[in-house]
Amino acid sequence: MRKIAVLTSGGDSPGMNACIRAVVRAAAFNKISCIGIRRGYQGLIEDDFTRLNARSVGGIISKGGTILGSARSEDFMQIEGRKKAYENLKKHGVDAIVACGGDGTFKGASVFMSEYPDISIVGVPCTIDNDLYGTDYAIGYDTALNTAMEAIDRIRDTADAHKRLFFIEVMGRDAGFIALRSGIAGGAEAILVPEIKTDLEALVSQLANSRKAKNSSCIVVVAEGDDAGNAYKIADAIRGKSPYEDIRIVVLGHIQRGGSPSCFDRVLASRLGLAAVDALCNNKRNIMLGQNGHKIIEVAFEKAIKHHQELSPYLVHLMEVLTI
Ligand code: F6P
Repeated sequence: MRKIAVLTSGGDSPGMNACIRAVVRAAAFNKISCIGIRRGYQGLIEDDFTRLNARSVGGIISKGGTILGSARSEDFMQIEGRKKAYENLKKHGVDAIVACGGDGTFKGASVFMSEYPDISIVGVPCTIDNDLYGTDYAIGYDTALNTAMEAIDRIRDTADAHKRLFFIEVMGRDAGFIALRSGIAGGAEAILVPEIKTDLEALVSQLANSRKAKNSSCIVVVAEGDDAGNAYKIADAIRGKSPYEDIRIVVLGHIQRGGSPSCFDRVLASRLGLAAVDALCNNKRNIMLGQNGHKIIEVAFEKAIKHHQELSPYLVHLMEVLTI
């Protein structure tokens, strides 16, 4: 192993920079040189490489976003795009890649390695949605949760003042992880997630219970991918049927993706970055690193891609108990 490249791909997540820093420093520790690829697989195709060393990644651990930039590359889905990418890797003498991203990133990595077996790729899970199978936590999820929780707390203040019902939409186009945890932490009166079929009549009676209990406000946290639609659609569907006449809708959107990473995400990113380099040094490939309990684990790309991460039944039960 002489040269490792690192890239960030797909939706960015807070902690990607901490991971880049760990990869570069772990490589330097092992006397391996490291190069950064800008804008994920797109930069790989367009030969957008940048030298990185232990000092050039100083001061980035606390920064959100990614210093390398990110992209969802359509060209990498094409055979010609991947051929160009391979030629550029050879030109730069790169033996292996640490790919930081989500399932789209790992799908691309898997296809690429089947076509070009002399390049090894290991993945580091980075997505605020936390929907990757095999790891308890993806980098960025904890920070996004805290951002969403803080927003819910702020909305609660004004909702209380006006005795209003708020629908707060959080990210998660296929998964309810952000909604479930931030909703529990924010004391939401109802939480709607794609994994559980939404029953609008049950929601209306939940809202009636909240009114009867003389709650001065009511907050419904909605994952953007909920089967009943987005927050606007759900609010429209219950309008006139719920005891709350004054309804407001807030879509938190991309503020959940930005910001300085939490302590948890910085440490997770540092651990997984080091583990990724160690795995490559031990001739591992085609795997995603992850965390299970307190342990760092390896998950085959094939598994991480094929399976769907399920919501914890315990947290779902907790939500049901706390939202009576
Ligand atoms: O990063 C994952 C995610 O945040 C999803 O929850 C959301 O639907 C999507 O990214 C938004 O992506 P984009 O920034 O490309 O619109």
